[in-house]
Amino acid sequence: MTVKDDRIGAAPSPTGKLSPIDYSERIPNNVDLAGDRRLQRALERWQPKFLDWWKNLGPQLPTEDVYLRTAVAVGRDGWAHFDFVPMEEYRWGIFLAEAKEDRKVNFGQHKGEPAWQEVPGEYRAELMRLITVQGDTEPASVEQQRVLGMTAPSLYDLRNLFQVNVEEGRHLWAMVYLLQAHFGREGREEAEQLLKRNSGDVDSPRILGAFNEETTDWLQFFMFTYFTDRDGKYQLGTLKESAFDPLARTCEFMLKEEAHHMFVGTTGVQRTVERTAQLIKEHGTHDIWQYGGIPLEVIQQYLNFQYSVSLDLFGSEQSTNVAAYYTGGLKGRWQETRRKDDHDLTEATYPVRMIADGRIVEKQVPYLTALNLDLRDEYTADCENGVRRWNQALEDAGLEERLTLPHEGFNRQVGNYAGHFVSPEGEVITEEQWNAGAAAWLPSQETRDKVAALMVPEYEPGEFAGWIAPPQTGINDQPVEFDYVHLAEEGLA
Ligand SMILES: [Fe+2]
Ligand SMILES: [Fe+2]
Repeated sequence: MTVKDDRIGAAPSPTGKLSPIDYSERIPNNVDLAGDRRLQRALERWQPKFLDWWKNLGPQLPTEDVYLRTAVAVGRDGWAHFDFVPMEEYRWGIFLAEAKEDRKVNFGQHKGEPAWQEVPGEYRAELMRLITVQGDTEPASVEQQRVLGMTAPSLYDLRNLFQVNVEEGRHLWAMVYLLQAHFGREGREEAEQLLKRNSGDVDSPRILGAFNEETTDWLQFFMFTYFTDRDGKYQLGTLKESAFDPLARTCEFMLKEEAHHMFVGTTGVQRTVERTAQLIKEHGTHDIWQYGGIPLEVIQQYLNFQYSVSLDLFGSEQSTNVAAYYTGGLKGRWQETRRKDDHDLTEATYPVRMIADGRIVEKQVPYLTALNLDLRDEYTADCENGVRRWNQALEDAGLEERLTLPHEGFNRQVGNYAGHFVSPEGEVITEEQWNAGAAAWLPSQETRDKVAALMVPEYEPGEFAGWIAPPQTGINDQPVEFDYVHLAEEGLA
């Protein structure tokens, strides 16, 4: 595969013999599903419900087939195969990364014990909750993005949207497998619920806030794949360390697919910035709406919004739940095994920021209770990389302006900053000041409408909508002007 993520880099080295994925099965898998008739039947009963969900809440634009990547092995080389596939016939399957021989628990009170192949009774409820919350985000994003195909800026981008969508669908399969294989009847019920909750539904919404926000346009989609899929990457990174080995192996393989989603975000925003810079230079003004471009301050507003709602996904800075997850071995830290400490953390502290007397202050708290923030700080450092890259595009174009991440306290609904007003620069302000500034900091409905008005579909191979620059290279060594998506006749009307 030629599409490499700029953050994760090449896929991890294989740690055992390669296990090819068995495609003769109705449900492709490398977990020997054929050897467990009960589980196989449970999944086969769930499959038509999944397909129904895909038909009703998956991509709306009718297509014949799409040039898609399908996982065919879990090893380092050639794990994916590219070909034209009708999306409803995509081979969603169940793939776990190779088992590591004699894997041990790497942190918490069970450190040094063999990793668990079955769910310990004492952690059953917590593990099921963690898997359900992760599982809920996967179909949610497909639902949020379902209408975007109608306004794709190119066939290249349309294909990338659909690739992300089918893989989020597969991630749902991954979590449903764990629920059905390891949590009995309750797990099967949770698997049903994952298809019943819907993004933005008043009665039965998705579990986490950011997954109930509408994805109104392609700039938001790129911001979503950059900031919100990246939250997913960090959550998966903590579950990849889990003492519950099937969960760890599932998440490790999901991370491999996730890399492309973030590539779509990084390069999508970058290409938008490039085009914006080009129009500013060409016309000698920042007011480029009239030339069909998205003004730089609007890109900053979208960034402010998506970053702040994504920070909320990490939960409260201090949490006793997260301490229990860590101590129990259920959920580790980002790059747990590379950290040079005791992996027990009972003695350590961590600096947490909060507002006291109208000022932001720092307080040392027990590290174990601050693990959400530990993860969020890793995430923020990672987010900075993309911003640097986008600013390089501005610098290359000879522009002075720069994009920035807003302060962590800006526009927050969860944790220490919730209920306070903080400017993008990190000043604690009054509600009146917030109300006066918000219009410049966050995209207003009017701005969103103006962006939406630029989102005209471009379905000619090699052509791109006027608000975005073409990519440097195509997918899987194909040219940029490749016909990545064959639309259904009715879709062309
Ligand atoms: Fe995912
Ligand atoms: Fe993703």
